[in-house]
Amino acid sequence: MDIKEEKLYLAPLYNRFPLNVVRGEGVYVFDEKGNRYLDFASGIAVNSLGYAHPKIIETITLQAKNLLHISNLYYTEPQIELAKNLVRLSGLDKVFFCNSGTEAVEASLKFARRWGKEKGKYKFISTLNSFHGRTMGSLSVTGQRKYQEPFEPLVDGVTFIEFNDSKTLEEELKKGDYCAVILEPIQGEGGINLARREFIETARYLCDKYDTLLIFDEVQTGIGRTGKIFGFQHFDITPDILALAKGLGGGLPIGATVINNKVAESLHYGDHASTFGGNPLVTSVANVVLEEIERLLPHINRVGRFLNDLLKEKITPLEDVLDIRGIGLMYGIDTKSNARSICERCIEESLLVITCGKNTVRIVPPLIINEQEIEEGVYILERVIKGGI
Ligand SMILES: Cc1ncc(COP(=O)(O)O)c(C=O)c1O
Repeated sequence: MDIKEEKLYLAPLYNRFPLNVVRGEGVYVFDEKGNRYLDFASGIAVNSLGYAHPKIIETITLQAKNLLHISNLYYTEPQIELAKNLVRLSGLDKVFFCNSGTEAVEASLKFARRWGKEKGKYKFISTLNSFHGRTMGSLSVTGQRKYQEPFEPLVDGVTFIEFNDSKTLEEELKKGDYCAVILEPIQGEGGINLARREFIETARYLCDKYDTLLIFDEVQTGIGRTGKIFGFQHFDITPDILALAKGLGGGLPIGATVINNKVAESLHYGDHASTFGGNPLVTSVANVVLEEIERLLPHINRVGRFLNDLLKEKITPLEDVLDIRGIGLMYGIDTKSNARSICERCIEESLLVITCGKNTVRIVPPLIINEQEIEEGVYILERVIKGGI
């Protein structure tokens, strides 16, 4: 393959790393020459069960022989099974399936508007530095000017507050015309910024007090990434709407918007839909993913603590490092040097890491990773950051 053809034939939207990935196995991927790379990126927090997981292969093979797609005009068993699993795990009541993170957020916003319609509540509160996706609705609640500005005017009625600012949240909610507050429990793309317990619990309290819905965007933090199935489970609250994607499909495209009965009761046939949403292929795989991740939770917590300790021991003391934040298997390292060039140097040293925020290196490995593999990756990172690139 000639990578120059990418420039000829693909829309000029991605600044790709110089690596042609042809296959993966466990926590490693391989280029066309057979060179092996340890993956601390998981296809942007997606491949939680790593690559070529035998249960995923088996499920895809079986499902391909039976039924890939039929649409939501008919009933399919894997979809109902997955909805039951998500309801059981989240404590919420109903599920809408779509195909990506931005669609799961888009549906969340539409459901909140639908719920608020009769009450005259249509506005949203979101946070600065947040990331909720690229479609017009999700982009409108994404608190980063660089993504919004080229596409204005966006959807009306969005107020941005500082992350963790409970006081301004109440001042805004008092106005009474908000249908929802949308939050990530950890801002992922924004730089791995953790929400304070007080902020999340106050947000829940205030949303109840001012009759506003609380949406949790767990597209990145959901499905075991933080050491719990959902990030909100680190707090003493449940959101009204939960947006999921990424890790749920084990590499297949899926999104899910999980809602409580209060929200579900405001929806009617035809209000929203998706042709591919929740098709039998993706939902049968997602059922396997959920089963495996539930079983893996103690492992994720154990290796997560190991990663945390090793980062504190090896990376925190480096001169170039400003801060390290994270939980579970989701970490950000703020550096004085350019985060992108650290990623490029890591590739040369056979490690995949990615960036987020202003100058943060992001670590989101497959959740099946073990201590030895974590050590291998952190040692490479240490070498590269020490190199002062
Ligand atoms: C928190 C959050 N929400 C939404 C999205 C958008 O997801 P997608 O790229 O699947 O549309 C992302 C993607 O990074 C995300 O991290």
